[in-house]
Amino acid sequence: MRHIELDLAVSFRERRLRGAATLHLGPAGRRLVVDTRDLEIRRVNGRTDNFRLGPRDPILGAPLEITLEPGERSVLIEYETSPEASGLQWLEPSQTAGRRHPFLYSQSQAIHARSWIPLQDSPGVRATFSARIHAPVPLRALMAARQVRDGHFHMPLPVPPYLMALVVGDVKFRAMGPRCGVWAEPAVLDAAAREFADVERMVEAAESLYGPYRWGRYDLLVLPPSFPFGGMENPCLTFATPTVIAGDRSLVSLIAHELAHSWSGNLVTNATWSDFWLNEGFTTYIERRIQEQLYGSARSEMEMAVEVGELEEELRRLPAADQRLVLDLAGRDPGDAMTQVPYVKGALLLRHLEEKHGRPRWDAWLRGYFERFAFQSITTADFVAELRRTFPGEDVSAWLHEPGLPADAPRPRYEFGAEPRADWVTQEWLHWLRSLPEKLPVERMTELDGQWGFTRTGNSEIAAQWLLMAVRSGYEPAYGRLERFLVEVGRRKFVKPLYEALVQTPEGRARAQRIYARARPGYHPITRAAVDALLR
Ligand code: BES
Ligand code: ZN
Repeated sequence: MRHIELDLAVSFRERRLRGAATLHLGPAGRRLVVDTRDLEIRRVNGRTDNFRLGPRDPILGAPLEITLEPGERSVLIEYETSPEASGLQWLEPSQTAGRRHPFLYSQSQAIHARSWIPLQDSPGVRATFSARIHAPVPLRALMAARQVRDGHFHMPLPVPPYLMALVVGDVKFRAMGPRCGVWAEPAVLDAAAREFADVERMVEAAESLYGPYRWGRYDLLVLPPSFPFGGMENPCLTFATPTVIAGDRSLVSLIAHELAHSWSGNLVTNATWSDFWLNEGFTTYIERRIQEQLYGSARSEMEMAVEVGELEEELRRLPAADQRLVLDLAGRDPGDAMTQVPYVKGALLLRHLEEKHGRPRWDAWLRGYFERFAFQSITTADFVAELRRTFPGEDVSAWLHEPGLPADAPRPRYEFGAEPRADWVTQEWLHWLRSLPEKLPVERMTELDGQWGFTRTGNSEIAAQWLLMAVRSGYEPAYGRLERFLVEVGRRKFVKPLYEALVQTPEGRARAQRIYARARPGYHPITRAAVDALLR
């Protein structure tokens, strides 16, 4: 698969995309197999007798097997998506900020592109694409690509399928610099532009470290609160949850992270999902370097200390096999491999190499790595070979293949204050709340709430942490906020631990089920799958 042409019409009434995908192929044999998941295939190259859908696997979907005529080098597949497509979320107007128009967005990583486009859905495959999207007026369609004119898109650089992305809604644009701007619903646009004002400087910082930004524009798109992730590095157009808009720019490391993927992930891509740490570990490391350049090392170390705390907490519970950087995903959904291990353990490995070889040599190696593997998909073995070309004999096998952290793993250099202060930033509150006992007496919860107003905080990270403690402690005054939070916000990282905590308390399961009955229709398929596993 070398180039993809899409022509799709958006029907909100039917909750379907309908149209055609043309796959242009490299030198081809007689049989082509592409991935699909819940797609209805109408015709291939105008015919109905040259293809068949294989049996549906619950994780992988169904293979579409196409017989090619001799010399045939492209297939035009006419199809439509299912209203239940796992890679799309169709929102009612009531689930948007403006409450007047419906909204559609895609989330393709890890293996959901196949639920809205029939294609070879592996990160080891790259293709360029062009697309025509027919959206109902007055809504706007955007794709993670260059916009040629309204509804016409082009991605001239080869990308893996998990980076293909589409959004249709009432979104408006605000420029924030020559290359950067933000798209959001009108009601959110001002707050978003204020929060993300540093984005152009972030691009400059990343370029000064790792070479030119190759994708043209770097814009942000703020999604409705049901977006299941914090951010998604769709090329040219990072998707972000509105829950990073804290009002004080304290959560913008998420933007640094998604921007960093423009090098680690989008330029040099993990060839398989077992090599996911190559995407996320490198990215988490670069995120730290960007934050350090913009805001200084104290802030960067503080943020890293919080991340390392989350890793240590997770390592206490994860089975040994999932503590390795290189994962065994046989029989599993690669989207479920998203623990702190590939992110934070991966970043610590790169920091270990930086400390061992010195920043100048290490930075030069990283720049060379991005140049050498640009627009390629590589495995962990490719990384090791490239590392040894510059640092002969370097042995990182314990990091890659053993559970836990090696004894000489780097530690963030940051000491948190012990007593809360009104001028604390998000990370200080998180660290402090997490250092308290899991369960507190209701009197103590009442006292803390009276002093610091946690139940009504507008900061989503602090709210999620506080609500977790409220559930564990049986602190009733927070339950109203808990329910509103769970009904409004669909970010899996917040939602899943709250339901987990609920089902572990007496009468909690009944409460969880009642809340979930209200909340589930608004959740994305990815968040639904996570909570269904707990409650259904
Ligand atoms: N690429 C990931 C999101 C992702 C990973 C989606 C695997 C599906 C499968 C993105 O870059 C990411 O890591 N997002 C994080 C935020 C980040 C600051 C750690 C998230 O959404 O929590
Ligand atoms: Zn990431």
